[in-house]
Amino acid sequence: MGAKFSTYRRRSHNSHSHNFHLHNSNSNSQSPQSTRPSNESLSPIQSTDSSIVRQGRHFHNTQQSTYWLPNDEEEMDRLVGQHFALKSLFNGNFLDDPEISALFENGCEILDVGCGPGTWIMDVATDFPACQCTGIDMSEVFPNIIRPSNVSFQGGNVLERLPFPDNTFDLVNIRLFILALRKEEWLQVVKEIFRVLKPGGFIQSTECSMLDVGNEFVLHVGAAIIEEMIDRGQEPRILGLFPDVLKEAQFERITQDNRVAHLSKPDHINREFLWDMINIFKSAQAFLSKKLDIPEEKYPGFLQQAYKECQKSPGAEWVLGITVGRKPQL
Ligand SMILES: C[S@@+](CC[C@H](N)C(=O)[O-])C[C@H]1O[C@@H](n2cnc3c(N)ncnc32)[C@H](O)[C@@H]1O
Repeated sequence: MGAKFSTYRRRSHNSHSHNFHLHNSNSNSQSPQSTRPSNESLSPIQSTDSSIVRQGRHFHNTQQSTYWLPNDEEEMDRLVGQHFALKSLFNGNFLDDPEISALFENGCEILDVGCGPGTWIMDVATDFPACQCTGIDMSEVFPNIIRPSNVSFQGGNVLERLPFPDNTFDLVNIRLFILALRKEEWLQVVKEIFRVLKPGGFIQSTECSMLDVGNEFVLHVGAAIIEEMIDRGQEPRILGLFPDVLKEAQFERITQDNRVAHLSKPDHINREFLWDMINIFKSAQAFLSKKLDIPEEKYPGFLQQAYKECQKSPGAEWVLGITVGRKPQL
């Protein structure tokens, strides 16, 4: 965990301290990809049993899944940075709710579905040592050896049955699946989470809006993301729709807290979200470059332009929201 945190800090510091220098992971000889077999660059798409390489980035190879961001070290750095930005935006790792706070304080069973590098679950486990914490992800990108003693990780796909009995967890966290699920899969996943929750247990979901407020450039990029999602059968409006999905799955006591990241504002927290957004564009290069008709060699220039345009676009906003619901008591 320490290595991940320090990698993030170094990268984050660098990205704020100059004109957002973004290296092209294909051409920079110091990029992590340069340690991989050199014949990767011969073909834009290659696959191994566990990953597919596109434009120098590694992606999952789970046929059933529409998730479109990479699962490589560079993406894990982004997710670690994003975790701390979200923690600052929401003043903590979970919605401010006395019942949820009591669960954490007294010790409980927590599951993080799609935990990625495991930053949220390890942060929570460190703050609440009496809790037993589990992270699951279809890409085994979480730490295998060094982690808090009350955390365990395992591989698993939430679109299949979760490998846990009914009524196991007090709280299940699921964060940023907007680019991972088809429209109709949301209800299926929420019902599966309902199954593994104990009666009275909570689901906590964090999702985000599209980039649909800002100048012409911002809206143009935002529209390309929406188009890619629609091509994949995904739901760009899931944040607003999520309370209804919870209701349909029989959750009760549903609350949502939406907060705005102002991408043009220069304060620390908003700069973290701007860094995150530009790195999402970077991670999505293999798909966005086609939608935006930008040749691979021009993509670094596009990212620099995007950074400047977001900064100068008055009102460029990105809404992030936490939704919580409770499984009824028996
Ligand atoms: C945007 S990342 C968010 C990671 C983490 N929740 C966080 O907030 O830092 C989405 C994660 O969900 C995982 N994922 C996507 N589809 C999944 C599925 N069907 N089952 C399990 N994990 C999945 C991806 O591998 C990725 O690690």
